[in-house]
Amino acid sequence: MDDRTVILKYDGGELELPIVEGTEGGGGIDIGNLRAKTSLVALDYGFANTAGTMSGVSFVDGEAGELRYRGYSIEELAEKSTFLEVAYLLFYGELPTEAALESYTQNVTRHTLLNEEMKRLFDAFPKSAHPMAILASATNAMATFYPDFHNPTDPHAVEQSALRLIAKLPTVAAFAYKKSMGQPYMYPRNDLDYVSNFLHMMFALPVEDHEVDPVVAKALDVLLILHADHGQNCSTSTVRLAGSSQANLFTSVAAGMSALWGPLHGGANQRVVEMLHQIDEDGRDFEKYIKKAKDPNDPFRLWGFGHRVYKNYDPRARILKSFAYQVIDRVGVDDPLLDIAIKLEEAALSDDYFVERRLYPNVDFYSGLMFRALGFPVRMFTPLFAIGRLPGWVAQWREMTEDPETKIGRPRQIFTGHPARKVER
Ligand code: CMC
Repeated sequence: MDDRTVILKYDGGELELPIVEGTEGGGGIDIGNLRAKTSLVALDYGFANTAGTMSGVSFVDGEAGELRYRGYSIEELAEKSTFLEVAYLLFYGELPTEAALESYTQNVTRHTLLNEEMKRLFDAFPKSAHPMAILASATNAMATFYPDFHNPTDPHAVEQSALRLIAKLPTVAAFAYKKSMGQPYMYPRNDLDYVSNFLHMMFALPVEDHEVDPVVAKALDVLLILHADHGQNCSTSTVRLAGSSQANLFTSVAAGMSALWGPLHGGANQRVVEMLHQIDEDGRDFEKYIKKAKDPNDPFRLWGFGHRVYKNYDPRARILKSFAYQVIDRVGVDDPLLDIAIKLEEAALSDDYFVERRLYPNVDFYSGLMFRALGFPVRMFTPLFAIGRLPGWVAQWREMTEDPETKIGRPRQIFTGHPARKVER
């Protein structure tokens, strides 16, 4: 709290509302007693002006285009850190010592196997199933295997559940992919590091081994770091809302995965590459697509553009754009879609519609191209986002359960339906 207040005038009086400051960036007006004092509620579609919580996990400066995890910039973490180190940082609040990282890595590695009975779950899906549906279902199913670890107030249970989720999600994602290919599931290999193990489970076959390219593994590690947390985004808020009822961590994360799947959120990375394909096949007529995106009567959006918080270039997209050329060069693929993406970006950024609305490329604009260059099929892009975002979800869920101010999430409504009436019979 600081000394400043806001005076709210309403029919019947005035209410003094305190201002709450954060450590960086603008503060907020605490409206905790608004309804009790005025009988009124706040209306804010999409929570565009509403902070649902205080949080110390990640800081997003939308004006400057900056993102920090626990105080460290993503640029620095992408350069000097690894994904598991970042997962540790988000969960425990500090970067690990060498010994702590080794022990954490060992613990994660020891939990990469899925219970053998889980395999039947994958078998039950049609071959055409989108892997995001499988991911959310399998994550929920995981809760049934660990009923003794559901108590959100037991720190050991929470730590173990977080560890199991981080260890097992790559296995789940790789099994979902194998299912769609009609190929046998590949078991995890604990002699490989986190990312190399995932790549091996994805691309090896029992009849043909897959040698993981260290350039690909490094690039994927950086991509996962860049996705690891992002304030109170849609899926994280979903994880928190589900968890606020004291639902267990597995099932809260499964709820977040469902929110991530949507094309306005994590599903955008798949849409971007599909859009770039379409533009390519359509004679690379950029103007046509810019026009469609600007047409209020056309549901088409320029996928990978715009952001609720960033009114500047998304720092993740900036890193990925410069990294994309490097990686695409190193892995030796010549992707015509990268060229289309660059030209589309140029066309959009010089168009008044996008300039006035401050619509810039977001993380999904270039991540799909990177995933593609690393050999992933388009339907795996959003599951990759989920693997990356998982450390953020578990850290935010834990922060919520430990916050004494936490209450069950239960927004109000302004009722606009039929006033009271009687059944006329
Ligand atoms: N193409 C065309 N117009 C757009 C776009 C776009 N990609 N994004 C926003 N606009 C327009 C929108 O129509 C509106 O125009 P007007 O003021 O004339 O009504 C204005 O810009 C403001 O947009 P909004 O939809 O009110 O903004 P929002 O904060 O509610 O939505 C968003 C943010 C990310 C959902 C939106 O920009 C969007 O749909 N982008 C495309 C999907 C996408 O790339 N999503 C990934 C987001 S980043 C990673 C993640 O969170 O997963």
